[in-house]
Formats: sequence, structure tokens, C-alpha cells
Amino acid sequence: MKIITVDNYNEMSKAAAQLVEQQILGNRETVLGLATGSTPLGLYENMIEGYQKRGISYRNVQTLNLDEYRGLGKTHPNSYYTFMCDKLFSQLDIPLANVHLPDGTTQPVEAECRRYEALFDRIGPPHLQILGMGTNGHIGFNEPGTAEHSLTHCVELDESTRANNARFFESADAVPTHAITLGIASILKSGKIVLLASGKKKAEAVKRLLDQEISEDFPASFLWKHEDVTLIVDRDAYQLAQQERR
Ligand code: GLP
Repeated sequence: MKIITVDNYNEMSKAAAQLVEQQILGNRETVLGLATGSTPLGLYENMIEGYQKRGISYRNVQTLNLDEYRGLGKTHPNSYYTFMCDKLFSQLDIPLANVHLPDGTTQPVEAECRRYEALFDRIGPPHLQILGMGTNGHIGFNEPGTAEHSLTHCVELDESTRANNARFFESADAVPTHAITLGIASILKSGKIVLLASGKKKAEAVKRLLDQEISEDFPASFLWKHEDVTLIVDRDAYQLAQQERR
């Protein structure tokens, strides 16, 4: 794992955008793996700036997102589809036909999981996967206890995850209890992985990741099994790990 330490959230976002832009300039038909949450928002702002000011085109790029809430359709204000359209896709030249997320409403859910994994293999796997990390080490929505060999599946969200994500909803109760997520094995199929971590809130998780103990209890630790992972971490998130390394 390559570790890039930066001063703050803005620097993290810029460094990540540089990697994305390099990738796209090298291959206009890049497949990007994208994530939701607060962490990649600065990256997305920089990607939009790159398109508007530096002419980085996403016309031939395809995107595959990690996850979607169960029960929320494309038009729901809190679906990850809506989030991605608002924060990124609507401000780039990417055709909506090129953007892919699991559908939270398809029945039965197992069929949707199979469809999305097959699509992921057909269009992807991503040349470059962007990842954030939950405070409990989840990647995508792979909560602690998820097996290394897991493919796209439906998960019951941890109470801690629902509480952390409640800020996007009207109330804590409105946060869905389940989600569809790419599995650990799906994520590890990506060519390159860029993991972003920022702020004191993530310091404990970053410390645990850098302990290098691979375990289902801390899903992000499986990233040690991938040969091309770059962690971009800011000072606050790196603080505890750094103390230990001294
Ligand atoms: C969410 C998403 C993850 C994300 C994580 C961290 O639940 N499913 O993909 O990485 O939690 O969120 P944040 O970036 O807001 O801290």
C-alpha cells in the first residue's frame, strides 16, 4: 500500500483528482469505480473543475458505483443515484447511459445482486476504484463480518453506519436498514484502488488499517491483499497511526 500524507481535506481531494485525471488522460474509455459519503465530495468538485476549466472529458468514461440503499429508487432524494447525479454526473459531460449503480428497488434482491455483479464484470472491473472508509472499517457497505470472497450482496447495515449516515436523512429512523453493495472480492478485482481518509473521526480506523492485521472484523484490512492501493490521508486522520509508528 502506497501512503500519501497531505495537510488537509482540500489537499487530499486535489491529490485524488490528479490520479483520476491522469488515468482518464491515459485512457479516454476509463472505467471508474465511484463512492458516496462525504469523503469524495471534494474530489468530485475537483473533477468538475477539471472538466470545466481544463477540458477533461468524461464522454467515453463509464462509472460503476459501490452501493445503493435497499428500497430507494433512482428518483428518491436520498438514493445514491440521486446523490451521484447531483454531486457529479449532472456537472460533467458523461452520458447517463454510462453511469451504473445497483437498483435499490428490484425484486427479488438476489436477482439484482446477480445482475449488478455481471454488469460489473462486463463493463469493468474499474481501472481505478475510489473508496472511502466507514469508522468501523467498512468499504462500500461491507460491514464487519463480511467474507473476503463476497460478491455483490444485500447487507443489513450496522447501527453505527445508520447513525453516521443519518445526517443525510430527515431522521435517524428514515435511514434504510439494508443496502446492496459490491462485495470484498468484487472491489479487489479493480486495477488500482485509491482509498481516501480525512479528519479526526477516521484516525482510529486509519490506525487499525495500518496495523496490517487482515481480518473480517475490519473489512478495509482486505485491501492489503491488493497490489495497487494508494491511501491518501490527511494529517488529522493519520495522527494516531503516526504516533504508533514513532
Ligand atoms: C458510507 C458509504 C461508503 C463510505 C462510508 C464513509 O456508508 N457506503 O462507501 O465510504 O460510508 O462515509 P463518509 O465518507 O461520509 O465518512
